[in-house]
Parts: sequence; C-alpha cells; structure tokens
Amino acid sequence: MPLVPTGELVAAEPVCAFNVITLEHAEAIVAGAEAAGRAVVLQVSENAVRFHRRLAPIAAAARAVAATATVDVALHLDHVVSAELWRQAPEHGFGSVMIDASRLPYRENVAATRAAAEFAHDRGLWVEAELGTVGGKEGEPPVDPHAPGARTDPAEAASYVAQTGVDALAVAVGSAHAMTVRDAVLDHDLIGRLRAAVTVPLVLHGSSGVPDAELRRAVSGGIVKVNIGTALNTALTGSVRRTLAAQPELVDPRRWLAPAREAMAETVAHFCRVVSADGPA
Ligand code: G3H
Ligand code: ZN
Repeated sequence: MPLVPTGELVAAEPVCAFNVITLEHAEAIVAGAEAAGRAVVLQVSENAVRFHRRLAPIAAAARAVAATATVDVALHLDHVVSAELWRQAPEHGFGSVMIDASRLPYRENVAATRAAAEFAHDRGLWVEAELGTVGGKEGEPPVDPHAPGARTDPAEAASYVAQTGVDALAVAVGSAHAMTVRDAVLDHDLIGRLRAAVTVPLVLHGSSGVPDAELRRAVSGGIVKVNIGTALNTALTGSVRRTLAAQPELVDPRRWLAPAREAMAETVAHFCRVVSADGPA
C-alpha cells in the first residue's frame, strides 16, 4: 500500500507512532498494527540515523516494509535537530518531520522552527515541533515532568504555533522519554487547556512510561499522535535475554531475532488497541 501523508492519518483517528531502529522494528510495527487493524506511523529518529551512520538504509527499510502493509502507514522523521538531516526528509519519502528545537530558548526555537517549517511546507511535508520539556532525551539529566516551567504553557503554545506555522505540537504534560518516569501521571486539565488554546493536533512523547488508562484519557482529551519507542526496545531486549539464557548455544541471529520481533509486534498491537477509540479501557 502507498504511504499515507502523516497529516491525513492523524486527522482521521488517533494513531500510535513507533520508533524504527532496525528492519525488525519496522516489520514488527507493521505486523502489530495489522493485528490490531490500525493505521500506524513508522518514525525514524535522528538518533537512529546516527546509529546507521546515514539516513538512506533505515529510511529504505521502513519504506519497503510499509509498502507491504495492509493498514495505512505514514513515515515520519523524528526529533531532528540537524538542519542537514531535515533537509533530506523529502527525498527519502518522509511525509512529515519533527523539528526538535526544544533545547533552544523560546525566541531561537521559534526562529529555527519557522525556517524549517517553511522549507518542509514548500516540499509538502507536515511539520511537528515541541514546546516545553519532555525530559529523558539521550544525554540529558532526568527532569521532573511536573517541575515548574517544564510543562507546556497554553498561551505560549498558541503563539508558538501561530509564529512558527507548524502543523502539530508535541506537548509536555507529564510524560518523559525512555521510561525515565514510569507510571507517569499526566496533567489532563492541561491537555484540555492546550486543546482549547491550540488549533493544531497535539502529540504525546515519551508514551512508553504512561499507563494504559492515562493514555486512553489523554487521547479522549485531545492527544492524536502517541509516540512510543522504549517499550519496543524493552520487549526486544527482554526476549533476546530470555532466548539466549534458555539456549546459550544459539549463534544464528534469526533464532533469537524472530521471537524478539514477535514480542515487539505484540507490544505494538497492545498500544494500538489502547489508543484506539474502541480499545480496552
Ligand atoms: O519520539 C519518540 C517518543 O517520544 C518515544 O518515547 O521511548 O519514551 O516511548 P519513549
Ligand atoms: Zn519523543
């Protein structure tokens, strides 16, 4: 099936966006989404590109797996700091890009994001950006997601969207990346105020550490893209550890990658059902 533009997917229904690090991640994400009967976003982060040393191989893997899907799939380039990288997004088939200038002071964030959004819009891409502090990013010290100033301010968010022209906003409402906060408690009142203040779709990052009921409530409150990465890696690595502990003689990677890929697919299907309107409460 051809790739669907990210904006169209997100406009149709709340969706999960999963991080693709390896070919097996992409295969598991599509298999899990198909099992749940849900559209899905395959997202490649700048960190994953750094791991592969360049964008082309992992982008090609994600595109090739998406082409075999029986559910709608969008391709998103995630957490991009480097201008050199986001400029490559269109030629590699990405329908959207997240410009991550959130480490910059507000005015610099606005300027950098606006420039990137203009470039991306000229090439038909949907643009996401982040305002506030969703902590737990690689190389950063852990932050309390409810610390004063960490959460996204609704009035600032409204002017940020107007000034930058972005199509979606990643908001800091109590979650943190990489499960640096587990059992995250989200600020649902803030999600409601952001929903009322901001005209574009809202995105939740760091969703691996958010309990199912909190995720469901966040989606009911107006979050439409739910980003999940670490939960897949937890499933993958846990499975590999179990397989190799039980069969230490294994050397063929297919023998330990197959159950690991299956574990990731089950995790994907679970999150897709949680986020879907008719999923388990
Ligand atoms: O953009 C990616 C997500 O925010 C992933 O966060 O690894 O904590 O689930 P996570
Ligand atoms: Zn994120």
